[in-house]
Amino acid sequence: MARILVTGGAGYIGSHTCLELLHAGHEVIVFDNLSNSCEESLIRVQKLANKALVFVKGDIRDQKGLDQVFQDHSIDAVIHFAGLKAVGESQQIPLTYFDHNIAGSVQLMQSMEKAGVFTLVFSSSATVYDEANISPLNEDMPTGMPSNNYGYTKLIVEQMLQKLAQADARWSIALLRYFNPVGAHKSGQIGEDPQGIPNNLMPYVTQVAVGRREKLSIYGNDYDTVDGTGVRDYIHVVDLANAHLCALNNRLSAQGCRAWNVGTGNGSSVLQVKNTFEQVNGVPVAFEFASRREGDVATSFADNARAIAELGWQPQFTLEDMLADSWNWQKQNPNGFN
Ligand code: NAD
Ligand code: WQD
Repeated sequence: MARILVTGGAGYIGSHTCLELLHAGHEVIVFDNLSNSCEESLIRVQKLANKALVFVKGDIRDQKGLDQVFQDHSIDAVIHFAGLKAVGESQQIPLTYFDHNIAGSVQLMQSMEKAGVFTLVFSSSATVYDEANISPLNEDMPTGMPSNNYGYTKLIVEQMLQKLAQADARWSIALLRYFNPVGAHKSGQIGEDPQGIPNNLMPYVTQVAVGRREKLSIYGNDYDTVDGTGVRDYIHVVDLANAHLCALNNRLSAQGCRAWNVGTGNGSSVLQVKNTFEQVNGVPVAFEFASRREGDVATSFADNARAIAELGWQPQFTLEDMLADSWNWQKQNPNGFN
């Protein structure tokens, strides 16, 4: 049992991870400013776990607030989800992204150092890989300058964490490079609840299916892929949550900074996702083909061998499970947590 501080724990991946942490017997302290989430997700997490967590409303850019959390609770390790993640928005307001994602992460590292806490799991992204790499992407492949400011913040924080661990052997850091998280807890009580028009494929598909949006625009049908549409590695959010527990276990008894891909190793095209969603759930998803979206690559999927070998992690869920669980959440909560 350990006492874990989860920044951004009220959000999509954070809430699922809090639930798995509680199930595993850990104590959980969530620090979140609720800028892209609501406390209801944590109320539901506690009901599902039949166990309480501590919620502190705060912003990672507020050093005093962060220091106070470390003073009030004897934290063993940190899982750091807090940050902004909308790729398009990051092009409009880069400074805001630098502030939350980069400066906020630096404040967190400073508060950890002051408190003598040196174990950290960081939410990184497959977007840090150089676009010239050919999938399956493995952790030894070069990173490159991401095509958007959101991705740039992930690359910068990864590099800072690597340098920090090189300079000070007390640090033990996991960089988890997520591929495309989808799905929801099987209860349908927690799930992804984007504000406004979804940027990502899965919430767009479920919102069309539930009648909140007219039709899905499929961005490009002339890629060099199985059917011309973009191929991605979709990973169930509960599998992703469990990767954090495995990484935590690994890091509590290791030093240095190491990256792991978190994906299934399978690529699925947009059309395969749409068609499988319709088959599994028996609901139609109206769509049209649209032009390619700027910054998209044709194909991205993981080589997940390192996570399987070193973390003892194994994805459990199929694409069908992911699509059924996404729909179960959306159907039960047509307007999200509201
Ligand atoms: P999310 O928006 O649901 O969760 C992020 C949480 O952080 C939210 O609850 C938000 O209120 C909080 N937050 C934002 N800025 C904050 C700040 N300054 N101080 C305190 N709290 C703050 O997003 P998510 O999908 O759960 O993503 C979690 C993490 O994983 C993010 O760092 C994201 O960049 C990363 N990630 C997500 C994906 C994805 O596709 N969902 C892929 C790769 C990486
Ligand atoms: C998936 C596929 C689209 C929406 C992004 C970020 C990445 C990470 C995860 C996290 C692509 C197609 C999408 C739509 C579509 N970020 N699509 N119509 O782009 O792989 O990754 O989210 O925090 O950094 O870049 O995910 O879900 O947006 O797109 O046709 O309305 O679906 O072109 O092929 P992506 P996505």
